[in-house]
Amino acid sequence: MSEASQSTADLGFVDPQERRGSGVIKWNRYPDRVIPAWVAEHDLGPPPAVVERLRELVDLRAFGYHSAADDVGPAFSRWATQRHGWTPDPELVLPTANVLQGIWACVEALTDPGAGIVFSPPVYPPFLDVSPTTDRRAVHWPMTLTETGWQYDLDALAGLLEADPGISLLLLCHPHNPTGRVLTTGELARIVDLAHEHDLTIVSDEIHSDLVYGDSTHIPMLTVPGAASRTVAVTSGVKTFALGGMRCAVAVCGDERLRSAIGTIPAELLGAPNRLGCEASITAWETGSDWTDQLLTLLDRNRRTLFNRIVAELPEVTMFLPESTFVAWLDLSAYDTGDHPARWLRHMTGVAGGNGPNFGPGGAKHVRITFGTSPELLDEITDRIINGLRD
Ligand SMILES: Cc1ncc(COP(=O)(O)O)c(C=O)c1O
Repeated sequence: MSEASQSTADLGFVDPQERRGSGVIKWNRYPDRVIPAWVAEHDLGPPPAVVERLRELVDLRAFGYHSAADDVGPAFSRWATQRHGWTPDPELVLPTANVLQGIWACVEALTDPGAGIVFSPPVYPPFLDVSPTTDRRAVHWPMTLTETGWQYDLDALAGLLEADPGISLLLLCHPHNPTGRVLTTGELARIVDLAHEHDLTIVSDEIHSDLVYGDSTHIPMLTVPGAASRTVAVTSGVKTFALGGMRCAVAVCGDERLRSAIGTIPAELLGAPNRLGCEASITAWETGSDWTDQLLTLLDRNRRTLFNRIVAELPEVTMFLPESTFVAWLDLSAYDTGDHPARWLRHMTGVAGGNGPNFGPGGAKHVRITFGTSPELLDEITDRIINGLRD
């Protein structure tokens, strides 16, 4: 069966040999005996229509200069309307090569050297690279661990902003990788109030926003009253549709002032998405809503399976049910993992996870496990973790 003829009913099938043969880094870093659950990339996509479109473009040798980026903003705007009830103005959508490029562009264009950039560790590791690579200061607003899971402490953010007037940008991971925490309307409103009070720009990384479960709802930062004049949202179809190597993302500016400021970066320096990435994203956004619903059903089942089994069969490991994303954040502090818990886990179980300390303060003794795979492989991952760590 070719991938293009795959139906949504086949969505939950993953062939490890085919994945390794594809050359993706997730499946090729470790020996074949190791199951990879370390990269935040699921094994289930992209939707067949995307593969079909890419095949057409290859057959057409459509590799010349192109204007496909012009269609990215309108396609994203329709997707955001359909999935999140948010209709960004396509004129304010800047296509970028990837989300991180959008973040770095915002830091360069919207802050000065020496400015404080505040973010919430433990967090997606590249956030920790912003400060050393841009001559800005990292200010940590740590996630706090409570009995019910990881939370944002808004009073702590207020305290940081009060104490340090040099903080000029909040880099929000919304939803939060690796904890899966989803910000509520009240929390977002408070953040916007603080942004006005302390002259703060908000860069809201919403790359995981399509993948929110159950009773939680993703509220796009740019729909929060008062946010527009201070916010750039950066996102893409990469996580939803498994398009990490395709290089197409968007930076959605809240208003013309922010758009113009980012526009001061020379186009040649900023770069641009490539044709295949644009077309893959556009096709996914235009045709992928039902497929995304199927994906969410499968991922929801996976997150519950992993959570229920860890809680019941391995109580030494603490895990909270993620509200979003396809990653689980496991606390292994009951074990003597040393300072590289992911390596320790790999040796103990044959499962490769993301190494907690790489996520900054709060990450010690933790491993991030990607559960975005087939139910069959997830069972194998879960069996290995439970059997490998149980006394
Ligand atoms: C929160 C977050 N932002 C950005 C990215 C990467 O996006 P891109 O590859 O488009 O830079 C990831 C990937 O894991 C992520 O989790």
